[in-house]
Amino acid sequence: MIFPIVAYGDKILRKIGVEISVDYPELNQLIENMRETMENAHGVGLAAPQVGKSINLFMVDTSAFEDKTYTKLKQIFINSEIKEEWGEEWEFEEGCLSIPLIRENVKRHSNLTIRFQDENFKWHEKDFDGMPARVIQHEYDHVKGKLFVDYLSPLKKRLLKNKLINISKGGADVDYKMRLPK
Ligand code: NI
Repeated sequence: MIFPIVAYGDKILRKIGVEISVDYPELNQLIENMRETMENAHGVGLAAPQVGKSINLFMVDTSAFEDKTYTKLKQIFINSEIKEEWGEEWEFEEGCLSIPLIRENVKRHSNLTIRFQDENFKWHEKDFDGMPARVIQHEYDHVKGKLFVDYLSPLKKRLLKNKLINISKGGADVDYKMRLPK
């Protein structure tokens, strides 16, 4: 089942996702539906708040990137915590399925260490760099109530204000379904 993607302006995108345990109801179904939703929208990552679930769960699948030179990563992250970020900051033009048709440069550290559980609730602690690290940082922000536009300068934000309002009102012309803020 494909979920509608929660659009910018919905309060759920600002909430911190709660940790979940192994008895979370129908988790496999949720993951399957999220994967279908992400692929349908050609996303490289999707976080649970973007489908209306305020939980600490996100997925990354960089195979949808057009540039195939990036290191591939396909992983579910549950109850994740970034322990450390380091390395030189670099800029990349980010986008977000909840904020369609807006792309802006965001600076992030090149490396990170993240502790997380996979879909079988097995714990991992891993280092990432390059594009996988970038997507993890973006999706991790989602489960912490943060969006990439938060990193922009006040001037940039002001320039984007009308576009953001338009997205909240359903004005963005996208080929996937969106859930608009009430
Ligand atoms: Ni996003």
